[in-house]
Parts: sequence; C-alpha cells; structure tokens
Amino acid sequence: MPLPSRTFIATVEDMRRVARRRVPRMFYDYADSGSWTESTYRANEEDLQKIRFRQRVARNMENRNLATTMVGQPAAIPLALAPTGLTGMQHADGEILAAQAAEAFGVPFTLSTMSICSIEDVAAHTTAPFWFQLYVMRDRDFIERLIDRAKAAKCSALVLTLDLQILGQRHKDLRNGLSAPPRMTLGNLVNLATKPAWCWNMLRTQRRTFRNIAGHAKGVTDLSSLGAWTAEQFDPTLSWDDVEWIKKRWGGKLILKGILDPDDARHAVDTGADALIVSNHGGRQLDGAVSSVAMLPQVVDAVGKDIEVWMDGGIRSGQDILRAVALGARGVMIGRPFLYGLGAGGREGVTKVLEILARELDITMALCGYRDIHQIGRDVLVPGSYPGSPAA
Ligand code: GLV
Repeated sequence: MPLPSRTFIATVEDMRRVARRRVPRMFYDYADSGSWTESTYRANEEDLQKIRFRQRVARNMENRNLATTMVGQPAAIPLALAPTGLTGMQHADGEILAAQAAEAFGVPFTLSTMSICSIEDVAAHTTAPFWFQLYVMRDRDFIERLIDRAKAAKCSALVLTLDLQILGQRHKDLRNGLSAPPRMTLGNLVNLATKPAWCWNMLRTQRRTFRNIAGHAKGVTDLSSLGAWTAEQFDPTLSWDDVEWIKKRWGGKLILKGILDPDDARHAVDTGADALIVSNHGGRQLDGAVSSVAMLPQVVDAVGKDIEVWMDGGIRSGQDILRAVALGARGVMIGRPFLYGLGAGGREGVTKVLEILARELDITMALCGYRDIHQIGRDVLVPGSYPGSPAA
C-alpha cells in the first residue's frame, strides 16, 4: 500500500494520523495505547520533551556522522526497530516489510516472538541478519526449539524481554476484543469495511496468525486472545538463573529488555549480557512506573562502563534520539513510530519514518554544534532540564 499522495508527511505524528485512518481500529489501538490510565505511556514522551538543548554557533558542522554500532553491529543511526507484537496486523506481511525497510536503511530489525510472520518467513525475505526477541514460556522444550530456530535463521542477537511475564491490562484491547485474525463480529465488519486496502492486502497473504507459535507449541489452545494466551503460557517464575541458562543455550549476543532500576541493571551486568534496554515496555505494562528517560541517567551511572545501555519508550523524533544519546544511551529502539509508518504505507512508510528521524537527528546535532554522534554527551543539554542534572 503506497503512502497517500495528497497528505504531506513531515513528522512521525503526521504518519500516526494516516495509520489511524488506514488500520482497523483494534490493531491501531493495540499499538497506540498503554496499560490502565496510560500515565506511563504519556510520561515517556512528556519527559523527553522537557529536555532542552544548548544552542551553539560558529562551529564547523560539515561532514557529519550518525553511524554507530549496537552490540558491535552496524547501525546507520543509533536506532533499532523494536520487537512489536502483531506487526503483521498493522499491514499484511508487516514483519517482512519492516525488516526489508530496516535492512535497506541499515538499521537492525528485531522480530517479536508474538509476530505474525515467522522467523523463517522473515529470514526467507531478507539478507541481513535480524535479531530475535524471546518471551520465556512454561514449555521449555518450545523455548529451546525457538532459540534453535533463531540460530538456524542466522539471527545475530537475542533480545530477552524481562518485563512481560504477565500482561498489563490494556483497556482498549479488552473493549475491542483484540484477536488475530479479527473475529467477524458486526462491529469489526463495519470497521473493516472502511479499510479496503488493508483488507485487500490481508486477503492476499496466508500470514494471519501467530506463526512462530501456531503448529510449533504444544497445548496452546487460544492463540487469538493475548491475555489468556500469556496467562496460560508465559512462565511467571522467570528468574536471573533462567537468564544465564538462556544465554548459554543461545551462545551469541544477548540483549536484556525491560530494565528500569539500577539494581536490576547490576543483575543484568552479572549475567554477562552484551546490552540492556532501559524500558517500561512503552508504558504497556506497569502503569505508574516512571518514564524510561527519567531512569536512563541513573542506569548509565550505575553500569554504563560495564555494558551497552540503550533506551526505548517515547522516541518520536530525531531530537528525542539525540536526548537519549546525550544521556548515555548507545542507541534507542522505536516501536510505535515504525508501526505507524507500516500501517500508513507498508515498507515505504517504514522507510519514510526512518528518513524523518535521521534528518531530524542530523539537523539537531548540527545545530547543537556537533558533527559526530560519538561526541554527544550531557554537555549538549541545558543543566537543570534533564533527569539527574546538577541544578542550573
Ligand atoms: C507485547 O509485547 C505487547 O506489549 O503487547
């Protein structure tokens, strides 16, 4: 589905509006929501907005560099696509299209356990290695097989999510009766009738349910209801010992996602993981938790010398990427921004979002007086305007 030709898209927010028009309500809402009151979802964006840059002038800004590495792997800008559930419901074959856009742009793509396209589907349609995100389920045989499938597909890092062994309650999903594929209720049919391009693309693909799981896991009875499925299958006993077991079984780069506390960050370092992601799952889990950016400096100060620290949650612009990097993040992950691009315009939409973010990051870095992303530190920020800052 091409991007609409008559809508001017300059920002991620413009893209979000197009996605809201084009994607069936239950899937748009699934992406654009947080748990309970959504206070943490909002705080992620709001706290980033409060951070101010120091404007510097008369400094050579020619020949700028935004390229870096994340766990030693190249990234054209300090960013990777986050693992997001049901991506293939924002647009038919969504995970494949997003992975292709990421590959062409030169940033890592992460495939979620809860994806619609399977590990093998994505591997068959890409050439660059992608990352695989793992949820730990009670069925350890299934987990071992998932890890082995990721290895067989040549995934170059495993992203282990630690903050979702039980699902935070998301009111919109309950109201909408979220399921994949959507049930043919009257309300859904009426809504789908207003999304003809989405329906047409979806009818032309076979990929309409959780293909990493369907046919692979024993005893998964109700795949469509995410709440019931996680309650039944995800292992609530997950511990740091399990992390070590998984690390050994995987044997490659390991990234721990969902760290929001310096004490947990120290545990993460003790496991020997290669990176950790300061994250509250996009405000989708513990509503009332602090924003990711509010915790980033403390985590960096606690463990930044021992492990790569990344951040996700609330990144909506290149300015936000620069803010996170200034506070010590090696890179960021984005979820919703790329999902909006996907829903609005498939692969082209994801590419456009990456271009928007890269351009914003580039111009902002230049206006702060810097030419290389590796030079960026807290001194590009106005003291007093950022978490953990000495008073102005
Ligand atoms: C899954 O990762 C979700 O947040 O829904």
